[in-house]
Amino acid sequence: MAIRRFLHLALLASLVLAPLPGAAAGGGRALERLKARYARPAGVPFPADNPFTPEKAALGERLFHEPLLSQNGSFACATCHDPGQGFADGQALGRGVPGELLPRHTPTLWNLAWAPALFWDGRAASLEEQAKGPIQNPKEMAQPLAEGVRKLAAREDYRAAFARAFPASPVVDETRLLLALATYERTLVSPVTRFDRWITGDANALDAAEIRGFLLFNGKAGCANCHEGWAFTDHGFHDIGLPGGDRGRGAVIGLDVADHAFKTPSLRELGRTAPYMHDGRFATLDEVLDHYTGGIVERPSLSPDLRRIALTPDERRDLLAFLGTLTAKTQEPAPLVVAVPADASREEVVATGTVRQKDKRFAPGHIRIAAGERLTVVNDDSRTHNVRVSDPRLAFDSGAQDPGQSIALSFAEPGRYQLFCGIHPAMRLTVEVESAGSQ
Ligand code: HEC
Ligand code: HEC
Repeated sequence: MAIRRFLHLALLASLVLAPLPGAAAGGGRALERLKARYARPAGVPFPADNPFTPEKAALGERLFHEPLLSQNGSFACATCHDPGQGFADGQALGRGVPGELLPRHTPTLWNLAWAPALFWDGRAASLEEQAKGPIQNPKEMAQPLAEGVRKLAAREDYRAAFARAFPASPVVDETRLLLALATYERTLVSPVTRFDRWITGDANALDAAEIRGFLLFNGKAGCANCHEGWAFTDHGFHDIGLPGGDRGRGAVIGLDVADHAFKTPSLRELGRTAPYMHDGRFATLDEVLDHYTGGIVERPSLSPDLRRIALTPDERRDLLAFLGTLTAKTQEPAPLVVAVPADASREEVVATGTVRQKDKRFAPGHIRIAAGERLTVVNDDSRTHNVRVSDPRLAFDSGAQDPGQSIALSFAEPGRYQLFCGIHPAMRLTVEVESAGSQ
């Protein structure tokens, strides 16, 4: 294990450092390639079964601020997810209706339209499913959802707002309440900052120290191993060596290898969301860097993507300067652009019985296979994966699939299936299973 991790780190170091000498000079193709990885997406994806409408988002926003959803009428979602504090609450651990401390820190709600799993441990698969949690949790809003729905349905203004949001079936009910809340939450896209202007070509939007910090983030400091892309998250679960007994993702998927692993948070609007981490243990970004440069608790579940790094005082200043560019002056969400759904019929579908997992991606990502035929998934990645199917026709869990290991499964019934990784749920594989005679 230790040797494998060392080899892995050496490999990563060479991969990441290779393009940087050119980049450090402040220009060149390597820097352009790196910047391209941070381009903001063209639009916000909304699921086919809960498409965006302005009326639904408006209802969702109103519900988000509605204390009637709590048992004593004093707590709304916005009480803890305060729009003025980056949709967090400024506390290490939140407190709900009964006033007891919650076990985890209130996270920001920016950029969750792209999140494949919700909560620090990913126990909810969609925003629609997630919102039920805090409303009914006896330590949060402490009221059965049905009771909140009853209070809303008694009001003429809410009946009218639900009718505008759901004209085809104007009912005030639990399902529609959750659909509206989720629609509003998907509109919370973090504002454009100087960093984005630099990425899109304004060379003067960042100063030299901030650019050095960006290169460190992607190079020697290894932050981008996990905080990758425009939202600065791989949506994966990692143990970064914080002390404490919370098993996090490990308890949800029942795997020791994911113990103490929590969701990689977005680093957008970081300047407003202190304190940091799932338990709110760090008050400042300086303390966060102290952790990454010397506070890591050694244990078997540590993420293979984590590096033990050292930073000079100058490098630390540069890295903090760069992180500062991810917070906007405004607290208004970015103007909403709804993404046009990808045309699935134009996507390439490969007929194959073998799929690989290098670099946290299933390749190919969309395949065709006959019913009953064997699908082999080869872990040629440097990380442990956990292949899962959660479908009424097939429930599959590979357990811990270590680097070098292959797993196999087959599909008895024709149709479309989704495979995902329990540790890196942004990894998705779509499988079209055809009836055995049709190939
Ligand atoms: C009492 C404070 C409190 C209230 C009220 C509250 N939340 Fe939360 N919220 C939290 C905490 C704490 C977590 C993290 C819990 C965990 O991960 O185990 C959380 C997590 C979330 C997440 C997951 C974010 C992520 O990055 O995965 C979403 C989404 C969310 N809340 C939305 C809501 C909505 C919608 C409401 C109202 C219906 C609401 N919350 C009410 C404290 C609160
Ligand atoms: C192995 C993956 C990984 C690497 C590498 C990594 N992080 Fe993180 N980061 C995480 C995870 C996971 C969390 C949440 C951990 C928790 O709460 O238990 C986190 C939390 C944070 C937070 C707190 C955010 C918040 O909202 O609470 C900051 C800031 C941060 N990381 C910055 C960095 C910087 C800077 C680097 C490079 C020096 C870095 N990270 C390297 C995975 C990583």
